[in-house]
Amino acid sequence: MEDKARYAVGIDFGSNKFRVVVGSRSGDEISVVGYAEVDSEGVRRGAISDLHSPIDPLIEAIHNAENMSGYNISGASVGLNSVSIASTNVEGMVLMQDDGRGVSEADLSRLEEAAMKVKVPNNRDILDLIPFEYKLDGQGNIRDPLGMTGSRLEIRANVVSALLPDVNNIRQVCDQADNLEVHAIMPAAMASAEAVITGRQRENGVGVINFGGNTTSLAVYDEGELQFVTVIPMGSNDVTRDLATILAATPELAEEVKLRYADCQFGEGKDVTIKHRNDEYVFTRKDINEVVEARLDEIFEEVHKRLKAVGYDRRLPEGIVLVGGGAKMKNLDLYVRTKLGMAVRIGEILPIVSSSAPEVLKIDYATAIGLMMRDMSEREFHESSRGKRGRGGGFKLKMRKGGPGILAKISKLFH
Ligand SMILES: Nc1ncnc2c1ncn2[C@@H]1O[C@H](COP(=O)(O)OP(=O)(O)OP(=O)(O)O)[C@@H](O)[C@H]1O
Ligand SMILES: [Mg+2]
Repeated sequence: MEDKARYAVGIDFGSNKFRVVVGSRSGDEISVVGYAEVDSEGVRRGAISDLHSPIDPLIEAIHNAENMSGYNISGASVGLNSVSIASTNVEGMVLMQDDGRGVSEADLSRLEEAAMKVKVPNNRDILDLIPFEYKLDGQGNIRDPLGMTGSRLEIRANVVSALLPDVNNIRQVCDQADNLEVHAIMPAAMASAEAVITGRQRENGVGVINFGGNTTSLAVYDEGELQFVTVIPMGSNDVTRDLATILAATPELAEEVKLRYADCQFGEGKDVTIKHRNDEYVFTRKDINEVVEARLDEIFEEVHKRLKAVGYDRRLPEGIVLVGGGAKMKNLDLYVRTKLGMAVRIGEILPIVSSSAPEVLKIDYATAIGLMMRDMSEREFHESSRGKRGRGGGFKLKMRKGGPGILAKISKLFH
């Protein structure tokens, strides 16, 4: 097996698939050296629904990725996609000691604690704290106050959290599967963003929509930082379910209809004839269109509502980037553009990531690839010994801005 220190691992606990990606880094290049995908079990609407059934498929996916990469997987950064994920704007203030030594790591820890105490309840685990701005003695627009002197230190930040049981269940499943060490837990939409959006897009304002099997999650970035993340408990599997119900078809047949004939331009066309297990079925275009459109409307109207609630309705200059298996539906980008009134494109894995197996560099792998990238920067951050522990979550303060991490490098590369 290869030298452990050079590798990073991302694991995406999808409702349809568990995906494991192993990456290695050389200079500014990241290459995917191993990956695996297995049918998932024990995940409902993005959350672990029982502690036993995910273990075997997870072990299988890990072993397959180990075999392909030649790397022994002992830890990973993992995705979370439960509806309990929330981002909350917080503010906090601490008074500094008058010893002339300037703001220390300890002061920043106290400040975070003060900011989180008010608005983040104890039954939630903090996954990330993203500082928007610091103020020293009333002067704002400070991005990194370390070493600066003053007496009153304030922070405005975004705290990403999820209900404790959701987070603990992920940890427990990983622990029971080969004692897998969890380096970081990251919402799937944020992980996908790491893999498909550039620093410039983050700066200008962009939304990433991960249209998965049972969930649709959304992450909004502006001024370089995450502004909002949310998970809607509906996904492309609901389109399949509706087709099965309304067309009186089995789920397998309905899935085939969706994959081959769903087209989000909803144009007229000939009836569809499908051979399935020796029988022939005929469906009208109109029926297929109506079912698909009704469900997409429900999902993307909810996306629109949530964007509007945080003030980003039609206000993202870089528009929307679609990822997830559901985004492979024909002409979905055109549909979402009309629905949300913004530019929409199908995501592409950033060119910094390469692989000798190009089939992995696809939008349904965006979450797992982003988690692998997070794992890499997590380790580099840790090695630079600026890592800090949060309330049970182990999030890393200022990782994106402060560390020598890959994410900061990517931002520079694409500016
Ligand atoms: N070519 C395609 N056209 C249309 N839909 C597709 C296509 N390929 C996959 N899908 C749909 O994508 C969905 C699975 O997406 P994905 O693999 O991103 O889900 P997941 O990550 O396992 O689930 P989740 O993120 O919701 O937990 C399924 O509903 C599947 O039918
Ligand atoms: Mg997913």
